[in-house]
Amino acid sequence: MASSGEDGCGTAGIAAAAAEAAGEGGSPPPPSPGSPSDVSHWEKMAKYFDAFVSLTGHFANVALDHVAEDIQRVIEKKGEDDTCHVPVIVDVAGGTGACALEAVRRFPHARVLLTDISDAMLNVARKKIAESGIANVEVKVMDGQDLEMADGSVDALTCVFGIMFFPDRSRGWREMQRVLRPGGKAAVVTWKTPGPHVLTDEAIAKYDAEVEGKAKEEEEEGMPRGEERQGECLKKTAMDDEGRKKMLYLSSASAIADDLAAAGCHFSKVETYPSPFVWQGINEGDVDMMCSLWKKMPTIENLLTGRDIELLLAKLREVMRARLDENGHVCVPCEALLTVLTK
Ligand SMILES: C[S@@+](CC[C@H](N)C(=O)[O-])C[C@H]1O[C@@H](n2cnc3c(N)ncnc32)[C@H](O)[C@@H]1O
Repeated sequence: MASSGEDGCGTAGIAAAAAEAAGEGGSPPPPSPGSPSDVSHWEKMAKYFDAFVSLTGHFANVALDHVAEDIQRVIEKKGEDDTCHVPVIVDVAGGTGACALEAVRRFPHARVLLTDISDAMLNVARKKIAESGIANVEVKVMDGQDLEMADGSVDALTCVFGIMFFPDRSRGWREMQRVLRPGGKAAVVTWKTPGPHVLTDEAIAKYDAEVEGKAKEEEEEGMPRGEERQGECLKKTAMDDEGRKKMLYLSSASAIADDLAAAGCHFSKVETYPSPFVWQGINEGDVDMMCSLWKKMPTIENLLTGRDIELLLAKLREVMRARLDENGHVCVPCEALLTVLTK
């Protein structure tokens, strides 16, 4: 069972003091309603998000690989000398628990704290925790820009596909720096490519080509090309999408270095590695299910208002089927960046 009480293993054990918000100079601009910087987006996404857990779970493992040695060292130290501290791992913007639950499995002698701004995302994790009877994990709603943890209280911090959505990323970076112990590490994963959105991008391109093709035919036949027809193109809307821009804010090592500099962070070491992966989380039999799921997701829902939904779904099906390998997996190349920050 998850512990969220005030006992030795509870939040109070880790969160010794509520932290001051590290930022100076005014509050961040409010997130646009429904954008991925707005908690309501994730509250809606919560019931669909686990369809992508095999994708984010892969990168969670990559992040954990980079802090594993350090955690192991603290565990061994504790084994030799009982007065040493139990290692603390915090997953920031941890969603439905892909990374935190893997951390619990890999480091049963550590304390793991799963945090996220969305209670609905965490509820999915709470359910999984209750079902598996895991004990050494706490779950707490927490804004990554304002971590309720004491300075220097964390051995390892993970943040997988989270920080780019914070309205004030500088505060997020500074909070990571503040809560880490000297020598502690943060493993931060950000998108280098649009990940599974490549499927919707391809479907949108096909949709637009068909709509444009039809419009051209009609024009050639002498039918007037009205505003409405032009407005049916989806590509521009998709590319202008705020969520998409946010997703790719930190898609290069230089963008990450600039972000850290803007935040005034001084880690002793910053290393950024590319992390390519071919996601095979959708099988032939899941294609229709994925299409109906996609249709309900907030990002797509916004895009589809007033459009020919069935046409787009048909294109999405086509795109997924074109990517099937001989084993019936839809192959989606996804590249992320792993940045390891050492305090
Ligand atoms: C793409 S999901 C990633 C979830 C999880 N890390 C994973 O990889 O499966 C992004 C997560 O960031 C969380 N998030 C967005 N803004 C946040 C903030 N300011 N503080 C904490 N979490 C935030 C969302 O609620 C959502 O769960």
